[in-house]
Amino acid sequence: MTTDIWTDLGADVDSLAVRAGREDLVGLGVHALPIDLSSTNPLPDIARGGDSYESLATGGRPLADGGSVYARLWNPTVARFESALAQLEYAEEAVAFSSGMAAMTAAISAFASSRDARHVVAVRPLYGGTDHLLASGAVAGVEVTFCAESEIRAAVRADTALVVVETPANPTLELVDIAGVVDSAGDVPVLVDNTFATPVLQNPLRHGAAMSLHSATKYLGGHGDVVAGVIACGEAEARRLRQVRAITGGVLHPLAAYLAHRGLGTLPVRIRAQQASAAAIAAWLVEQPEVERVHYPGLDGDPRGLLTSQLRGTGAMLAVALTGGYPAAERLTSRVRLFTHAVSLGGIDSLIQHPAALTHRPVSAEARPPESLVRLSIGLESARDLIADLEHALR
Ligand SMILES: Cc1ncc(COP(=O)(O)O)c(C=O)c1O
Repeated sequence: MTTDIWTDLGADVDSLAVRAGREDLVGLGVHALPIDLSSTNPLPDIARGGDSYESLATGGRPLADGGSVYARLWNPTVARFESALAQLEYAEEAVAFSSGMAAMTAAISAFASSRDARHVVAVRPLYGGTDHLLASGAVAGVEVTFCAESEIRAAVRADTALVVVETPANPTLELVDIAGVVDSAGDVPVLVDNTFATPVLQNPLRHGAAMSLHSATKYLGGHGDVVAGVIACGEAEARRLRQVRAITGGVLHPLAAYLAHRGLGTLPVRIRAQQASAAAIAAWLVEQPEVERVHYPGLDGDPRGLLTSQLRGTGAMLAVALTGGYPAAERLTSRVRLFTHAVSLGGIDSLIQHPAALTHRPVSAEARPPESLVRLSIGLESARDLIADLEHALR
């Protein structure tokens, strides 16, 4: 997909979200996003098909006269979603995967698998699955140093291949200064998990990050009916990621790409509405005697100015530490009626879950969230109803 006319015109995120990846639809005579389910593609002849294969298997694009060859290497419906997400992230390219974890695995494999550069620096807190992936050694040969944001410069070594951060972080919404991390990382590429902020609220590449990763399962899809991952990045990084994807096979299915792409159109509207409710709920929770602490960006002020320099909003995720500890968390999660007690986040319906027991269960004890902590993903129900649900469940 070529043109990004909407970016060129300086279109704001609302217009981009609706139009990106759809530039050629009028010319094609269709209105909805086309879905191509082919697992294989007819070849023009051996030579041209072979050249296209060579390009795709080494991270390139299909050759114009050679075809897409095979769906593990290229799919036009997936490419449309990638083009749209790249535009929203002000990135040259994007590469989509079968899940957020497949995307993270591919990034680690692509950047930290050369013989002389296998070291990753990772700033906690991170989503429990990412922490688990890094700590488990599942990507063979990779060595990981977990550290605080302030320790990155000291942690980076001659063989460091990647710095991984998440901001706002899952589950406690800590903010990381992306430009500061990039400075501390020196020549080492920085990957930012941008799942919580989405491209509506934050564009990590604009602050010097090499890659912006999303679990598209969350806000991008937005309706709890698709599992997907995507990384926005420059052309050089995209080649490496596509090559790993082609080799290891963590591709996104075209039906999932369609759903994720369709979700983008309403992303800015959803984020704004969900964020307004989250801010109201956070303000209400702060006043409740059963609540020890509310984790929500901006509640403790903005000492580093990140809510103006980096984030364009506070988002729709929050976490609460309850004075009654685990029993209070158990009561709250089992008594809510409008919230659904379930993992995942970022959809139109509100979810509540206990990170220490679920999403962050695999994290080593010293870095695991406290037993008193409950995480809330605020959806599109009315804030008044959600507060009434929490009030009933807390009392
Ligand atoms: C911040 C963050 N990153 C990555 C992931 C992994 O994404 P997926 O579940 O799509 O593999 C999650 C999942 O919860 C997440 O919350």
